[in-house]
Amino acid sequence: MANKYPPRIKDLLALPASGAEVEASGWVRTRRDGKGFSFFEVNDGSCLSGIQVVVPGTLGNYEPQLARVNTGSSVRVRGTLADSPGQGQKYEILAAEVFVYGMSPPDYPLQKKKHSFEYLREIAHLRPRTNTIGAVARLRSGLSCAVHTFFQERGFYYVHTPIITASDAEGAGEMFRVSTLDPQDIPKTEDGRADYSKDFFGKPANLTVSGQLEGEAYAMAMGRVYTFGPTFRAENSNTARHLAEFWMIEPEAAFFRLTDDMDLAEDFIRSLCAHVLEHNRDDLEFFNKHISPSVIQNIECAATQKFERISYTEAVNLLLTSGNSFQFPVSWGADLQSEHERCLTEQIFKKPVIVHDYPKEIKAFYMRQNDDGKTVGAMDILVPGIGELVGGSEREDRADVLVARMRECGLDDRKYSWYLDLRRYGGAPHAGFGLGFERLLLFVTGMQNIRDVIPFPRYPGSAEF
Ligand code: 4AD
Ligand code: MG
Repeated sequence: MANKYPPRIKDLLALPASGAEVEASGWVRTRRDGKGFSFFEVNDGSCLSGIQVVVPGTLGNYEPQLARVNTGSSVRVRGTLADSPGQGQKYEILAAEVFVYGMSPPDYPLQKKKHSFEYLREIAHLRPRTNTIGAVARLRSGLSCAVHTFFQERGFYYVHTPIITASDAEGAGEMFRVSTLDPQDIPKTEDGRADYSKDFFGKPANLTVSGQLEGEAYAMAMGRVYTFGPTFRAENSNTARHLAEFWMIEPEAAFFRLTDDMDLAEDFIRSLCAHVLEHNRDDLEFFNKHISPSVIQNIECAATQKFERISYTEAVNLLLTSGNSFQFPVSWGADLQSEHERCLTEQIFKKPVIVHDYPKEIKAFYMRQNDDGKTVGAMDILVPGIGELVGGSEREDRADVLVARMRECGLDDRKYSWYLDLRRYGGAPHAGFGLGFERLLLFVTGMQNIRDVIPFPRYPGSAEF
């Protein structure tokens, strides 16, 4: 089947022996001229390495065309696959024909030199042609597939939860409004407020912050489900760990308690790490060499070591006695800041850490209250270099306790009546978590900024492309 389509460089490099007549197409990364020959380094995105094409000056179209082929040009090459005398490359192509699809003038923004990631963000439409962003894209694709395989093999059904929703799943009010009302001429009710009954959905609607609530509805019918889709948060966090649009994986499973949930999340991360170690070795070695020297070690650790599990209370005590001076003070009841999370996972345990049973005041309304009256059955997974990678919990399945908690949180329980039905009619224990896909990519690439692990990042002040 593979032969049906134009060949890829990855497949050529995997051929068992040289000698065959081959074809390759791609973009020229560099060009060098020698005596009677030119050398084009051609990359087609199929793998990190490109292939060197040896172009004799005697080819019919050498003058004037091939003599001008430059970085960024696109070509199709036909020729003989030969063992390469050069270091670090297995084969090269001795060209018998080079067809130029498109020339690239000298103002091509990706010249052969190191560009900053900030600069590359400004040319996000061209940056996948760089080694780093290309490798990120291959990892994203491979990991997406591994996510589905993991859940499908364990009896989880993929559910497509809505992107437009009227419920605030996190109760945090950080949502983007979806409306067709004319902002210059908003219809008003008698008391002067915006009249959303005239809006497209007849009520305020938003982009989803999480598919969890709808996921719960399906878990309470199908047993085990998961979502994997785009998620939107209008929090104004201009950090290297937050995006306004990111992808989240959210499994939800009936009859799972908090321990099952932690086991599932740990297995999941372990399996994704094992996947990239097995399938993306070249790209990982590139990241380890050029981006972060501890990335492979961190992935191997997550793939093989048992994660540490500690309660929030234990975490607070460890932080208080760690001898560190933090920017944000540590005290029981305060949320763990990124610096605290990283201290736990990077300094104290040097491996992924699951922190569980947080104070209810700092967690979402839907988490199951513990008998102590102070904490909820929540769990976060912290990993080196990132901090929080996963947030999850057992869900409050007692209707009366949930309603009381919603009211304490200032939420209008009438707006969540369908969600409460899941408790009224055959309510049962269930649990789930959310894993931020871009945070996972930060972990497996060692990249420093989350804006560089999603193709076209959205963040405060930026929705280019
Ligand atoms: O901890 P969070 O807010 O949990 C939820 O949304 C739950 N509904 C999940 C569930 O139980 N089904 O978000 C989950 C994860 C975080 O741990 C983080 O990895 C990621 O989503 N995340 C973000 N990633 C990028 N940019 C942001 N603004 C993010 N906010 C959360
Ligand atoms: Mg969280």
